[in-house]
Amino acid sequence: MKNKPFLLAANWKMNPLTIKEAERIARSLEQGIGGMKKKDFNQKIELVVCPPAVFLGCFLQGKYYKLGIQNIHWESRGAYTGETATRMAEDLGCKYVILGHSERRKYFGETDQIINLKLRGTLKGSLQPIVCVGETKDERDKNQTTKVIKSQLERIFDKVSILALPRITIAYEPVWAISTMEGANGADNPDDVMGIIILIRKVITEMFRSDVTERVRIIYGGSVNAKNVDNFLNLDILDGFLVGGASISTFDFLPIIRKVYESRQI
Ligand code: PGA
Repeated sequence: MKNKPFLLAANWKMNPLTIKEAERIARSLEQGIGGMKKKDFNQKIELVVCPPAVFLGCFLQGKYYKLGIQNIHWESRGAYTGETATRMAEDLGCKYVILGHSERRKYFGETDQIINLKLRGTLKGSLQPIVCVGETKDERDKNQTTKVIKSQLERIFDKVSILALPRITIAYEPVWAISTMEGANGADNPDDVMGIIILIRKVITEMFRSDVTERVRIIYGGSVNAKNVDNFLNLDILDGFLVGGASISTFDFLPIIRKVYESRQI
């Protein structure tokens, strides 16, 4: 997907613990990028910061980043204690939403069907969804990766309008590579990641029988850091990264941003 800037989405998860710290990180990110003096930054990179939802109202969208929310409810409003509606996130300036993260599957019982509801709910508004798919270690060890990814995509994209596809990003996040040192092994094998990216595009193209699927961004997530990022940047079919742990500290994140910037041609 060559026409859009490279997507760098920062998933802060349940960090940091105070507004002050969240604002400090956001400010130092802006300063760090400003200091790079790259006038074409926003043409090359679309940076999205996804802080904890309760902090979203505290800092405005920056010059170099947009805001995203880590989760959303599928209904537009109503009696859903503890939940956030799409419109609320939009009102706080969000442009993106992460859907179906494996931590939501693992700890909050989200299934492909729930993720499908969330995706269809989100598409009624203006947020751009980043939909996560990926196999667990057990599924990988049993050689079920292809089957698992295919069935996740088929269920999650069920009844999704073809017209919505250009708004959607798919994040391939092998569960075994998230937040672990094993991610470094995944990074040493970019061919594996490339194979899955090709598979994802093939599956959605077959589902929708249209070239419009070329406009879906496909990104990678799973322990991306400054040391292994070069391995992935060699994969020119990759449209971005979803970065967790390394995105919460500018010390770790700015070198990734710089490397991505330098690798991009416009
Ligand atoms: P990680 O997280 O970079 O810490 O592995 C990625 C994610 O969970 O989206």
